[in-house]
Amino acid sequence: MIRYKKLGYVELNVTDLARSRDFYERMVGLEFVGEGAQGEALLRCDADHHNLVLHRAARPGLKRIGWMLEDEAQFERLHGRLAAHGVAWREVAAEECRRRQLGRVTRMVEPDSGVTFEFYRPAETRPYEFRPSVARIQRLGHAVIRTAHFHAVTQFLREVLNFAESDAIGEAIAFFRCFPNPYHHGFGVGNAAQNGWHHVNFMVTEIDDIGRALHRLRGAEVPIVYGPGRHPASGSVFLYWLDPDGMTVEYSFGMERFPEHAPRAPRTLPPGPEFFDSWGSRPDPRMASRGELERAAL
Ligand SMILES: [Fe+2]
Repeated sequence: MIRYKKLGYVELNVTDLARSRDFYERMVGLEFVGEGAQGEALLRCDADHHNLVLHRAARPGLKRIGWMLEDEAQFERLHGRLAAHGVAWREVAAEECRRRQLGRVTRMVEPDSGVTFEFYRPAETRPYEFRPSVARIQRLGHAVIRTAHFHAVTQFLREVLNFAESDAIGEAIAFFRCFPNPYHHGFGVGNAAQNGWHHVNFMVTEIDDIGRALHRLRGAEVPIVYGPGRHPASGSVFLYWLDPDGMTVEYSFGMERFPEHAPRAPRTLPPGPEFFDSWGSRPDPRMASRGELERAAL
């Protein structure tokens, strides 16, 4: 059984790095940490060295997602699971790990969605200090992809990676926690016509962070594409908007937590709009419509 600590980082491709860095700092409230070796922008919202990386690219989308393993011993379990299922993976060279301020990294591509996952331990385990600005962000909350292979991808997460399913809404979306992380979901899989990026979420401290964001974003004419509302599955109050490339970003406040032992069974909620938002808002068609999944060459 592979054990995870948490969703550690999300790396996005953006078409105008300066514009996006400014947006994620001033509108979303992440703290700029520094530039990486290839000029990428590293930002933080938690006690880690960084949680969001922005890369300059021709097309917007998701570059990769990093899952922090519970400890070093998990690498062997992970490699064993991947080998047993015939999934290609490789260890990232020590030099690249050092450059990226990571301790040890294994990279793989999920076979059906093409999403690139990295599994890592940090270089430094002492906590860094996140300095909040426009919102009291507590952590990188979750990442969601779209896929045309919903059943295969959800099966892979459960059976190969030992992710625990918390809930699904019909066959529209399924929510997973990286076991034994308690939060209702660290990863979501949306059922779609094509593989692609859906959204990144940041969990905030209080409902005021949502209300302030609503007015801050409106004031800057940022398109708000869903909410404010409440997701019945996780209990979260949410707000979604678009970044400068049209990719979707979410704040949420409050989320069901699961115990490691004897958690409640996953539910399948009916696919009606009230099971996406119990407050009655409806998503704008632009929501979760932009962003490709970059497939890493192993
Ligand atoms: Fe979300």
